[in-house]
Amino acid sequence: MNQDKSLTRLKNVMSNAYAPYSNYYVSAIIVTESGNSYVGCNVENASYPEGQCAEANAIGAMIAAGEKKIKQIYIMSQDREGASPCGGCRQRIREFSDGKTLINLCSPEKIVKTCHISDLLPYSFGPEHLS
Ligand code: THU
Repeated sequence: MNQDKSLTRLKNVMSNAYAPYSNYYVSAIIVTESGNSYVGCNVENASYPEGQCAEANAIGAMIAAGEKKIKQIYIMSQDREGASPCGGCRQRIREFSDGKTLINLCSPEKIVKTCHISDLLPYSFGPEHLS
């Protein structure tokens, strides 16, 4: 999937987000080593705390398909500075990432920033601390 295609797909998925309360639309695409990709958008709820983040839904789709390793993740919001994943989603991404995982923070126009999980969540806690 090239960058233009990823951005187009992110925009399409973002337009399907259900965000009538915040009006803040988010989408995510996860690409795995196998080349498969999984998408998610945010899904809000009248009972506010029940809302789900885009990244969480993309991770859920990846896990349901039997995959566990994020090679690359793209996250888009309408923000010109690029999407900034919430703390909970940083931890969720952390669970299925390694030092090489690329995290692309996107605006509707472009990939604004590409970084690693250690940039977003330094000194993080992960599965290896429990083994
Ligand atoms: N949101 C996400 O989908 N991902 C994030 O990382 C940040 C926040 C959603 C949750 C809610 O539907 C809306 O953005 C505003 O917080």
